[in-house]
Amino acid sequence: MIEVRGVTKQYGEFFALSDVSLTVKEGEFFIITGRSGSGKSTLMKVTSGLLAPTSGEVSVDGKVLSDLSGKDLYALRNKSIGYVFQTFGLEENFTAYENVELPLVIAGVKRKERKARVEEVAKAVGLVPFLDKPARVLSGGEKQRVGIARAIVNDPKYLFADEPCGNLDSENTSIVLRILQSLTERGITVIMVTHDLTQLPLATHSVELADGRIIDEKFSD
Ligand SMILES: Nc1ncnc2c1ncn2[C@@H]1O[C@H](COP(=O)(O)OP(=O)(O)O)[C@@H](O)[C@H]1O
Ligand SMILES: [Mg+2]
Repeated sequence: MIEVRGVTKQYGEFFALSDVSLTVKEGEFFIITGRSGSGKSTLMKVTSGLLAPTSGEVSVDGKVLSDLSGKDLYALRNKSIGYVFQTFGLEENFTAYENVELPLVIAGVKRKERKARVEEVAKAVGLVPFLDKPARVLSGGEKQRVGIARAIVNDPKYLFADEPCGNLDSENTSIVLRILQSLTERGITVIMVTHDLTQLPLATHSVELADGRIIDEKFSD
């Protein structure tokens, strides 16, 4: 469970987030919506421990992030959290395989185990035919599948995806959303930002932001 309690984030005098509180429970497909500039990406970064709030606190599975040392925070993020970006964030000259493998190399996983894990997630996101291609030649939809595979290869409990379909056409958007939904069925909690309201029915829980505040919260049953 992730708890955000009374979080404010200031950039100078400007409040990107004002007194935001929310709880994300295990198994949820949690969606954050709101106009451009409403604070969605800031909320994702603060909730995932990438960015420290100005005030308030965030806890992940009972651990208050600001109480952790840099090393422990890094370890928690590495173990429990995957992050998918709108612009993919791949190493363009690495193959799809090498991109997905990278977090495992960093984590010190042995080659044989790495291969098994990469192949498993590649299957889960339909990446097997593209594994040997350099990222730079892949289509947007294929790149985002690499981005998702890379984010889940360490078997995280929470997957954050900030407008993962923002650069995709409608067909690839459907494919990526289907993959994210299938991950929730495998027990991963997905926290996604979108400004496309047609995606909201996927959510089991959603909030809408405006000017850094939650102005609406919904639970599906
Ligand atoms: N590093 C930063 N420094 C100053 N202002 C920032 C910074 N990051 C974001 N902002 C501002 O905070 C507001 C919210 O940004 P963001 O969270 O990226 O919104 P969204 O993802 O909803 O478009 C915007 O007005 C943006 O310009
Ligand atoms: Mg954003």
